[in-house]
Amino acid sequence: MLSGIQPTADSFHLGNYLGALRQWVAMQDTHDAFYCVVDLHAITVEHDPAVLRRRTKVAVAQLLAMGLDPERATVFVQSHVPEHAELAWVLGCITGFGEAGRMTQFKDKSSKQGTGGTTVGLFTYPILQAADILLYTPEPGEGERALRVPVGEDQRQHLELTRDLAQRFNNRFGETFVPPEAHIPRGAAKITDLQEPEAKMSKSASSPQGIIDVLEEPGPMRKKIMRAVTDTGSDVVYDEEKKAGITNLLRIYAALDGASVQELEQRYAGSGYGQFKKDLAQLVVDTFTPIRERTLKLLDDEQQLDRVLALGAERASGVAARTMDTVRDRVGFVGRGR
Ligand code: AMP
Ligand code: TRP
Repeated sequence: MLSGIQPTADSFHLGNYLGALRQWVAMQDTHDAFYCVVDLHAITVEHDPAVLRRRTKVAVAQLLAMGLDPERATVFVQSHVPEHAELAWVLGCITGFGEAGRMTQFKDKSSKQGTGGTTVGLFTYPILQAADILLYTPEPGEGERALRVPVGEDQRQHLELTRDLAQRFNNRFGETFVPPEAHIPRGAAKITDLQEPEAKMSKSASSPQGIIDVLEEPGPMRKKIMRAVTDTGSDVVYDEEKKAGITNLLRIYAALDGASVQELEQRYAGSGYGQFKKDLAQLVVDTFTPIRERTLKLLDDEQQLDRVLALGAERASGVAARTMDTVRDRVGFVGRGR
């Protein structure tokens, strides 16, 4: 399995954690897992080099702090493995212009950037994502030949494109890639903004009050949950249409606590929003405090982080180089000779 996350914020947020990262930790025990901090994707919008460097390290530290074990899983930085960019070029040459133009995330992001700020890199972003995934296609004879990608709901369309490209490549050039399956969590695939419960919680679009950062201090975390927009009435019940605010909080609670939404509705029957929010705030603080503390400790030891990344890059490169050898040969590039 493979997944990726962009180093485009000083902290991951609650949506990233529940939609994707928690699955990453669980799946390292059951899969041959590759986790990539996608810094090439992060430069598709304007960026500051020093900030990118810092955020890439903070991203890696958070992943380790959440429980990724560099011995069991391969944790690496995308730019350390140049095959990602190389395969993206090849896949770009079998992607239709119109096909890429239909990606809704591109349409959203480019409308925010304006024509001046919209780069070709932003347009081809999903093709690079397809390359990230397909490079880690398991070899024939490596056991079950499947490729799983744990992501939130917003990535479904990019995964569909990746499947199409894998199949198209296989049809044209011979069986090479395994079309990947999206692995989207049931309850927590879309965590919404605490202030605008109809919109996705998002580092680029949410206001600071609408988003909970993993690395946030407990005080502001509690305040934001207590002030989360709820709906008229006082019953803690799940209703996506009429009670988007409380429904989002119920989803978060259920995902963190392990109880079902129905159990929570019963637990809080008649007790009002206040107690429910207070307990949820405690749950969020208890989940993220140890992660914050471990992240800060890891960031203090740069050498250790660098060692983890060197190990990850080496393992990822081994697999990526093997896949790329096959791809070059299938496409018809002449071998370099030895
Ligand atoms: P991004 O922050 O867009 O790089 O997303 C990283 C991962 O978190 C991806 O797998 C997303 O699908 C997931 N994700 C981002 N925002 C949310 C959200 N509000 N709810 C659930 N998952 C999310
Ligand atoms: N586009 C993904 C996002 O915004 C990040 C990503 C890049 C990714 N490459 C990937 C996710 C490969 C899964 C697999 O969240």
